[in-house]
Amino acid sequence: MKETVKPLIEAGVIQNRLNELAEKITKDYAGGKLTLVCVLKGAVIFMVDLARKIGGEVEVEFDFMDISSYGSSMESGGVVRIDKDLDVSLEGKNVLLVEDIIDSGRTLSRLREHLNLKKPKSLRICTLLDKPDARVINDVSPEYVGFKIPDEFVVGYGLDYAERYRNLSYIGTLSIENDEEDMN
Ligand code: IMP
Ligand code: MG
Repeated sequence: MKETVKPLIEAGVIQNRLNELAEKITKDYAGGKLTLVCVLKGAVIFMVDLARKIGGEVEVEFDFMDISSYGSSMESGGVVRIDKDLDVSLEGKNVLLVEDIIDSGRTLSRLREHLNLKKPKSLRICTLLDKPDARVINDVSPEYVGFKIPDEFVVGYGLDYAERYRNLSYIGTLSIENDEEDMN
């Protein structure tokens, strides 16, 4: 199998967009507190880069959740399991759920339900990438979106294929071809 990554969003373009998102978030939450909830592992790089760009006018706290929905395949799974829940209480807090990508919308729909049970004061969603054409569950719309992308499998900047490519500073589309040796 031969895997090829074709650049889609350059590193500099990602950082510029993060500046814009962080500016908007800083304005929206200025003078208040914000709990950033990161969904492991795909959203880690996005969340730490974004958090560093949010101004000191906002008092920021972090927490992490681990869930499984995808496994190592390129197909979206229907079931979302929570492998690690939050450590902090969300009761009465302004919460921003930070995701890497919204594909079918199943993960987000399930996560939002789960987080709402913890009685936050407000709950918004921030996703680096959105694939609107892949949506199966339509009841979730993120308030902050980095980039809308076509319905193609992407890797890099936190996103993986079988745990690889997370370290790329850019985002690219992944294509997999059978090469001749594999055909024998
Ligand atoms: P959803 O539940 O179908 O919206 O899937 C969301 C999750 O699937 C994301 O949090 C990612 O972990 C994973 N995912 C969806 N599309 C891609 C992709 O193009 N590349 C890598 N992971 C993806
Ligand atoms: Mg994910």
